[in-house]
Amino acid sequence: MNDDPQGQYEGRRIILGVTGGIAAYKAAELASSWTQRGAEVRVLMTPAATRFVTPLTFESVTRQPVVQGIWNADNKSGRPDHIDSGWEGDLFVVAPASADFIARYSHGFGDDIVCLTLLAWDGPVLVAPAMNDKMWANDAVQQNVETLRGRRVTIAEPGVGHLACGSHGPGRLADLDEIDQLVFELLGATQS
Ligand SMILES: Cc1cc2nc3c(=O)[nH]c(=O)nc-3n(C[C@H](O)[C@H](O)[C@H](O)COP(=O)(O)O)c2cc1C
Repeated sequence: MNDDPQGQYEGRRIILGVTGGIAAYKAAELASSWTQRGAEVRVLMTPAATRFVTPLTFESVTRQPVVQGIWNADNKSGRPDHIDSGWEGDLFVVAPASADFIARYSHGFGDDIVCLTLLAWDGPVLVAPAMNDKMWANDAVQQNVETLRGRRVTIAEPGVGHLACGSHGPGRLADLDEIDQLVFELLGATQS
């Protein structure tokens, strides 16, 4: 991924939701790259995501606290985290997006910090699914993805290739360059 254009995302605020999948480690690369290019990156993690990558990794690359739950009593802003996190953001990215998250988000659930914050968010959303090929082909997953598309959520189409489970097929997290290109376009679309 291109980290060179220093300041390219200066003044932009990206919310990064990380959910529980093997590709969670790749989200740290995205967070680091956007931060290096000037963005303020706020990371929200589901409990499952913290099984794969520690919040400390994201706090280190973004120099921002990571929000992990919906019951944080330490919030100093006077607003709960799910309202505060998206208050002045420009773009909400979920990468990787698990099948479970996609099901919850498409049905309007609010029982984790990523879904709950999305319920209180009315800006652009980019969802980057990553899962086993059979999971990706599952009718329920495809229907849920269609529901999100119908709500003008941008989907970073999963790539085809080696999957962590050992199989080969569609389901890999889209290339980070492709995700970044979509981020660039969506941030541009919100520029005044
Ligand atoms: C080792 C392991 C790897 C997993 N990888 C994925 C994955 O790549 N994609 C996915 O959708 N679910 C994956 N899962 C299942 C999710 O972690 C599980 O559905 C979880 O409830 C997701 O929670 P979340 O959506 O709240 O983060 C994996 C589970 C395990 C144990």
